[in-house]
Amino acid sequence: MSKERKLGRGVAIAGVGMSKFGAFPGQATRDLFVDAFQELRGTVDKGLDPDDIEALYIGNYSSDLFEKQGHTAPIMADWIGLTPRPATRIEDACASSGVALRQGLIAVASGLYDVVLVGGIEKMTDLPIAEVTDTLATAGDVLFEIPAGFTFPGFYAAMATAYMDRYGATPESLMRVGLKNHDNGALNPKAQFGSRISAIMESKKARAAQKGRPVPEWESEMAFLHDDRANPMIAWPLRLFDCSPVSDGAAAILLVSEAIARNFTDEPLYIIGSGQASDRALHDRPDLTTISSARVAGRQAYEMAGVTAQDIDVAEVHDCFTIAEIIATEDLGFFEPGQGHVAVEEGLTTRHGPHPINTSGGLKAKGHPVGASGAGQVVEVWKQMRGEAGERQVPKDVELALSHNVGGTGQTAVVHIYERR
Ligand code: COA
Repeated sequence: MSKERKLGRGVAIAGVGMSKFGAFPGQATRDLFVDAFQELRGTVDKGLDPDDIEALYIGNYSSDLFEKQGHTAPIMADWIGLTPRPATRIEDACASSGVALRQGLIAVASGLYDVVLVGGIEKMTDLPIAEVTDTLATAGDVLFEIPAGFTFPGFYAAMATAYMDRYGATPESLMRVGLKNHDNGALNPKAQFGSRISAIMESKKARAAQKGRPVPEWESEMAFLHDDRANPMIAWPLRLFDCSPVSDGAAAILLVSEAIARNFTDEPLYIIGSGQASDRALHDRPDLTTISSARVAGRQAYEMAGVTAQDIDVAEVHDCFTIAEIIATEDLGFFEPGQGHVAVEEGLTTRHGPHPINTSGGLKAKGHPVGASGAGQVVEVWKQMRGEAGERQVPKDVELALSHNVGGTGQTAVVHIYERR
């Protein structure tokens, strides 16, 4: 059934902030969220009085399992001085803060609130990697999938295998995504991996020389990426550099009603499209080469905004694994099914190409603190739309942008479209 979806009133973004993404052993989630909020305050051009914030919606996948801390939303509210305003945690796996954004949007669009803070938080690196993997796996179907041995790299490896089989993509197609996103991440001071793959190669060579070990002689980045020692297989065909890392981080977004947006900034960004959908668990899907929830969420967002994929100037998409970016660019309609891998091979998704994707470095290079990733995408959208992305600024006017945030294997997907007027 098709239904026209629209917002009750206009909603704008008036400020954004994020902590650095990475591994921060000495810092708690609340410290990272304070960093994100402090940065946000600095981006509100005409100033923000925290007393004006009426509610907090915060995305978090699993502080319970990662940190043994439940009920995190009121703690975050307390640490930035919002108590006693309502603070609500949203959990939709890796789409948690994309969905929190949608909940904040609905709250402002409904007229209930005029000023809402949306956040995203996750602290993953306190656990050993085996426990991180087990914790992430609970975002799959623990009745049918996890007992069969699936992990998250395993899920996306199954998608990659199906995609390669159907469309003739190769491991090199996947590697091109990693190369591009590391190129972008190298220009993002907040990124966990702030290095191009060529720079990582040089530092590995220098380390080997320093330790008196044989210095590897890779002829090219592709040779490095094919080296089983330098880039080990994680779940065939996905290698280390096809995976997003394990990360800590936080991000924040200030939403205000359109009517008051210019009290905060002369350059608000408007959220003109929003879509969200769900899907069955991966084992129960007829087709592993697409994520149908993302197609539905994208269609809803385009319809609400009255624009098409070809109108979008930049997009941050959910590249938890390299194959996920390729599939996302097809699900969102940037390319036809089976053409996403060709597009990345031809450089169409670089900063200078016609469809810049993941100029922030994406989850691959910027980092993937799962509950914070959706909100983190909006920080890049803000920078690109306002021409504040520095060296990674795309060489065109950005009037329309899109963010795409996926939970688990795509049981949840949420898409937003932003406009600069
Ligand atoms: N990409 C590139 N390099 C990575 C990396 C990644 N994703 N993860 C770690 N590294 C590097 C480290 O910087 C380190 O480099 P160094 O030896 O030069 O210092 C080296 O690899 C080992 O790091 P370590 O932290 O010990 O790696 P690990 O084996 O514990 O973890 C993965 C590697 C791939 C298993 C882990 O990153 C992972 O599980 N990723 C997927 C996360 C995920 O599923 N998220 C949810 C998606 S829906």
